[in-house]
Amino acid sequence: MDGDDPGTVLILGGGLMGLAVAHALARRGQAVQVLSRRRSEAAGFVAAGMLAPHAEGLQGPLLALGQQSLALIPDWVASIEADSGLPCGLRPCGIVVPFPSASDRDGFATAAHGVPLDRAGLERELPGLAPSWTAGLLFPQDGQIDNRRRLMRALERACSRLGVGFSEGAEVEGLDRAGDGALQGVRLRTAEGDRRTLPTRRAVLACGAWSARLLPELPVFPVKGQMLSLQAPRQALGRVVFGPGTYLVPREDGLVVVGATSEAEAGFSEGLTPAGQRQLQAGLAALLPEAAGWPPMERWWGFRPCTPDEAPLLGPSPVPGLWLATGHHRNGVLLAAVTARLLAATVATGTGEPQAASALEPFRWDRFRELTPQPSLRQP
Ligand code: GLY
Repeated sequence: MDGDDPGTVLILGGGLMGLAVAHALARRGQAVQVLSRRRSEAAGFVAAGMLAPHAEGLQGPLLALGQQSLALIPDWVASIEADSGLPCGLRPCGIVVPFPSASDRDGFATAAHGVPLDRAGLERELPGLAPSWTAGLLFPQDGQIDNRRRLMRALERACSRLGVGFSEGAEVEGLDRAGDGALQGVRLRTAEGDRRTLPTRRAVLACGAWSARLLPELPVFPVKGQMLSLQAPRQALGRVVFGPGTYLVPREDGLVVVGATSEAEAGFSEGLTPAGQRQLQAGLAALLPEAAGWPPMERWWGFRPCTPDEAPLLGPSPVPGLWLATGHHRNGVLLAAVTARLLAATVATGTGEPQAASALEPFRWDRFRELTPQPSLRQP
């Protein structure tokens, strides 16, 4: 296995964040090795690929981070396409959020960023939308990317062409720390069952929903999502439709990705459930009745990495030399570009470029501590 050079940056996790950070580091000339337990489980292969800081109604620093990433995406995608020779399936098609009333629309967190629609406007944008939706917001700046079929593959190819090493089936079981607490290696179990330690002074933890298994201090937990795809008539939908609890993401070739349940109570329980699939079917019928008759193509599930405030954990970790790129919850595809940019700027220099450091500050891993009452302040 490559990566025995302690100067190599180890990426713990081969999902979208791991690949995106590996790619950005490799573009800076850094030696990188990606260690991945089972890439097929990665949320990057599960998500619908919406680029939706406004349609998701993000707020505060998370909205700002999402907008920053949205602005980076065209160049980021161009760099992946150039490095891989593969298309990523970026589709700046806009997203429509329907509402039952104009007052619901006007109270939406990001209403000021959208174009208000009345019923006639909704029918123009989304022919066939159920009549109960009388108002809407069009976010022309939001869009989608074909993460499952294109982006993940293109990123992987781009990384390998830039010399990134991959170890699939390598489970990181622990971190080796020096006397001063700093990272000095990672302990892993290979696909063949061998146990060994890879020396390193720099690593990036991008283990998604499984992050707390490696570092229990991290407040990351799984939120299961079930999805399905439908084969629609080509051009049946021109825009993403983002309804409450259900969304439809039309790919260029007529495939429509439908999401998603949001099941925090499911923990890591695997598999589809009849209740989850019924929920998607009901959401579909309530949004676009015609779509309930389109033939299903595939059904799948995965685990979003969530945190208490639903924003990611980015930057330094409790272990010097280990950086975090995890906890992206519902917005991993959107946030991959900015995560890659900020993490690469920080990890490549060891200490971090000041601009990247201040952008990462609102997403530090220990921000929740301030919310926990200190023992001395607790009531008896
Ligand atoms: N970004 C949508 C979802 O996580 O379901």
